[in-house]
Amino acid sequence: MAILQRGGLVAFPTETVYGLGADASNPAAVARIYEVKGRPAGHPVIVHIGDVGQLDCWAREIPGTATRLAERFWPGPLTLVLKRALGVGDYLTGGEDTIGLRVPGHPVALDLLREFGGGIAAPSANKFGRISPTTAEHVRSDLGSEVDLVLDGGPCEIGIESTIVDLSRGRPVLLRPGRIGTGDIAATLGVALQSRDSDAPRAPGTLAAHYAPRQPLRLIESDQWERSVQGTSHGRGVLSFRSPPEGDMSTMWIEASRQAQRYGHDLYANLRALDSSGCDRILVEEPPATAEWAAIRDRLGRARSG
Ligand code: TXA
Ligand code: MG
Repeated sequence: MAILQRGGLVAFPTETVYGLGADASNPAAVARIYEVKGRPAGHPVIVHIGDVGQLDCWAREIPGTATRLAERFWPGPLTLVLKRALGVGDYLTGGEDTIGLRVPGHPVALDLLREFGGGIAAPSANKFGRISPTTAEHVRSDLGSEVDLVLDGGPCEIGIESTIVDLSRGRPVLLRPGRIGTGDIAATLGVALQSRDSDAPRAPGTLAAHYAPRQPLRLIESDQWERSVQGTSHGRGVLSFRSPPEGDMSTMWIEASRQAQRYGHDLYANLRALDSSGCDRILVEEPPATAEWAAIRDRLGRARSG
């Protein structure tokens, strides 16, 4: 608490990934987030709030769609993009006229927010462009002493970042897929979500290259798998739904869950393990092209090289 009040950085667990938090009303504190992450200036951050009642401190227009989604999904893994309130600075929004807001569904995050009282600006607690952290250990190994405090809440339950929905421009637009699927949102709103278009706001989580391991990552379609793994296995790291063939010499082979929620929970930890296994390339078997795998396929698509 005192750390946030004096402009320091506190990394904290949420149900999605760990966040790197600073007092959202303090421009210098938020600037430190950018420094520590190595994030280019001009990207908006999500402001986390402890209660839906704080929405109007940050947003000047709260459409009925926002109220309905907040009632249904908060606290939870959903970020709403709304027109920003007067006085919300460019340092939070990257100069956009909108602000991203979320009430996270994790007891440690909620305690922190409610005790602090104000909004906490928090991107994922990783270096810019790298894999998001899903344990306190990940945060310490990425950001180490640059963070004033790391609150340890154990592994994140969901493991991939929140769904982001833009409600600032009339029709709701999906900016980033997550655990809460487009079907759940459409059912709550009674209208279908539009997908991102060219005048959607900039979002680093939507850059083509993001969430990337250091080693080159290739995605392989399931029906090409047998052929692709026949080559030399030395030096490769593998994330597949299958077990390794007889005599496989891969540096590391992780047999992934066929259950999407479990897969998502483990995904970033698995990519980190492969990345630091000493392999020189990572092969990932593509998950099915169905709705429950949409967010996972999105992140794998951005983690791949080239
Ligand atoms: O699950 C999550 O959302 C995690 C946890 C810590 O809450 N946070 C997270 O933050 O993933 P970050 O900064 O890594 O990604 C937030 C995404 C970025 O792509 C950012 O551009 C987008 O949200 N975003 C934030 N405010 C926005 C705005 N006003 N308009 C459009 N996109 C926005
Ligand atoms: Mg991030």
